[in-house]
Amino acid sequence: MMKRLGSPPRNLSGQFATRAVAICAMFVAMFEMGAAAAQPGNADNGRAKAATCAACHGADGNSVTPQWPSLAGQSEAYVARQLQAYRDKQRPDVGMQQFAATLSDQDTRDIGAFYATQRLQPKGADPQFTALGERIYRGGVPERGIAACIACHGPGGHGNPMAAYPRINSQHSAYLQKTLQEYAAGNRQSDSDKNQMMRNVAELLLEDEIQALASYIQGLQ
Ligand code: HEC
Ligand code: HEC
Repeated sequence: MMKRLGSPPRNLSGQFATRAVAICAMFVAMFEMGAAAAQPGNADNGRAKAATCAACHGADGNSVTPQWPSLAGQSEAYVARQLQAYRDKQRPDVGMQQFAATLSDQDTRDIGAFYATQRLQPKGADPQFTALGERIYRGGVPERGIAACIACHGPGGHGNPMAAYPRINSQHSAYLQKTLQEYAAGNRQSDSDKNQMMRNVAELLLEDEIQALASYIQGLQ
């Protein structure tokens, strides 16, 4: 319901009471978050917790199936964030939503710490597409307002662990394409804590540009 402009507040003390309750609730929520706040991830614990994930992501985080992303060398913060996003239904994969459903925040960080210690195996690019992919990756498409990927993911695609910008180099192009399409369609919302920055970029990309980028990025080392 719209509040009429200029109308005096109906019940001042009532408003203050409501606000006071809201502020108390906020402190309680902050306290609870603090109490449950995850400690930095423990890679040894993470290795054990990731045992069931090896079937798809590889024992060392290098997956051999193009639809299953490699996780080796990915940052703790990014992996933890994605597992929480599946768990909280901000990413739409039914299988991953199930695998993440019972993970605590601490579990997600331990698992992230484990994959961060693993070594990513390089993959080759499909040379057919790399020229267009490289051009957009390095320079964006200024006339259509598309930012250069290099600005956030770095020249080698290694990302920025502190900012939870993911490593994307040597990732399967099939997975990269699918996930860029999901950002573009607005279905992948794991960037909601980052001003939707990937959705904003991906929705401007054309299909052949996504294909070219995915191929180029797979070949980055
Ligand atoms: C049956 C195969 C399978 C199993 C088992 C599995 N995953 Fe996945 N995982 C996938 C697929 C497929 C995707 C990509 C889904 C998508 O497109 O969002 C994925 C995506 C992910 C991602 C996101 C990667 C990225 O680059 O954003 C993480 C993190 C992840 N899985 C961790 C785990 C962990 C931890 C477990 C075990 C608790 C696990 N997975 C078990 C198949 C699997
Ligand atoms: C302003 C910074 C920024 C720019 C520019 C940017 N990205 Fe990203 N990218 C991010 C962030 C942050 C994430 C993680 C968001 C999330 O948690 O879902 C991400 C995620 C991704 C992912 C998902 C990785 C995975 O493992 O699932 C891909 C692929 C990707 N970006 C490719 C690109 C491409 C291609 C471009 C250029 C067209 C680009 N990005 C431009 C910041 C950026």
